[in-house]
Amino acid sequence: MTVPHVAHTVEELNRLLAELDEQTEHTERTDSAGGLAHRAVVMTMGALHAGHMELVDRARAAARQVVVTVFVNPLQFGPGEDYEAYPRVLDADVALLAEHGADIVFAPEREDMYPGGDPLVRVTSGHLGTILEGSFRPGHFDGVLTVVNKLMHLVRPQLAFFGEKDAQQLLLIKRMVKDFNLDVEIRPVPIVRQEDGLALSSRNSYLSEEERVTALTLSRALEAARDAAEQGSNGPEAREAAVAVFAEQPQVVLDYLVIVDPQTITDVTNDYAGKALALVAARVGTTRLIDNMHVEIAARA
Ligand code: PAF
Repeated sequence: MTVPHVAHTVEELNRLLAELDEQTEHTERTDSAGGLAHRAVVMTMGALHAGHMELVDRARAAARQVVVTVFVNPLQFGPGEDYEAYPRVLDADVALLAEHGADIVFAPEREDMYPGGDPLVRVTSGHLGTILEGSFRPGHFDGVLTVVNKLMHLVRPQLAFFGEKDAQQLLLIKRMVKDFNLDVEIRPVPIVRQEDGLALSSRNSYLSEEERVTALTLSRALEAARDAAEQGSNGPEAREAAVAVFAEQPQVVLDYLVIVDPQTITDVTNDYAGKALALVAARVGTTRLIDNMHVEIAARA
């Protein structure tokens, strides 16, 4: 087990990347034999769990160099959100990353990442960033895209692994890569769930034992949508089946539950057939959780 090198500043990161390049035997951008890429990145806000480790394991299997970023990005938190309270446990994160073979951890302080204050120029997420999560968290996706863009330039990876749990974020990052011609391939990674279905999230640590049980309403509702679709329901009917699960749990406050076209994240219509995505956001006590599930909607004769 090799403990990853930790860089706190951009200068340290550049030095560690240069050293790693020297150690890495083949520095071609990608292996012509279809093998390993040169460098992969996994971007995180820390408080790492098995879901993050799935990203790191996939990065490790795909690239010679694995860089993990750990930065609680202030730009993506709105007023009254949990920026201050967000768990910061870098030593535990680095220990876990050592077990999974990360080479470098880039963990800058706010001042190292944004010297001179928060950036004046930001990436705008446009309409896609104002619907669903964006309508509950105005400015959130501009903050996400700004930091992701910056980290892409600092780490210069060929591959970047992102979890499917943040489905809208993933879609926006893919759009940014395309729209800005960023020279990186985005690799989506399926959600990791606990045995009872709860999707792993750093914010689960806020839940009491009782709230954790209540939080299962999200995955149960998504399963209801998936099962209804499997039994022949169209999109709106599958949505109704999922919303009914929330009706039985008044202690969970539903922000939204939609069945969308994965390419556009707009609601599917009655006659939509094919792959869809059920997306949910809800509050359990003071904790806001999101989850999603793939749903296959059959064509009707
Ligand atoms: O998904 C996250 O943890 C964050 O939004 C990301 C991509 C690391 C940007 O801060």
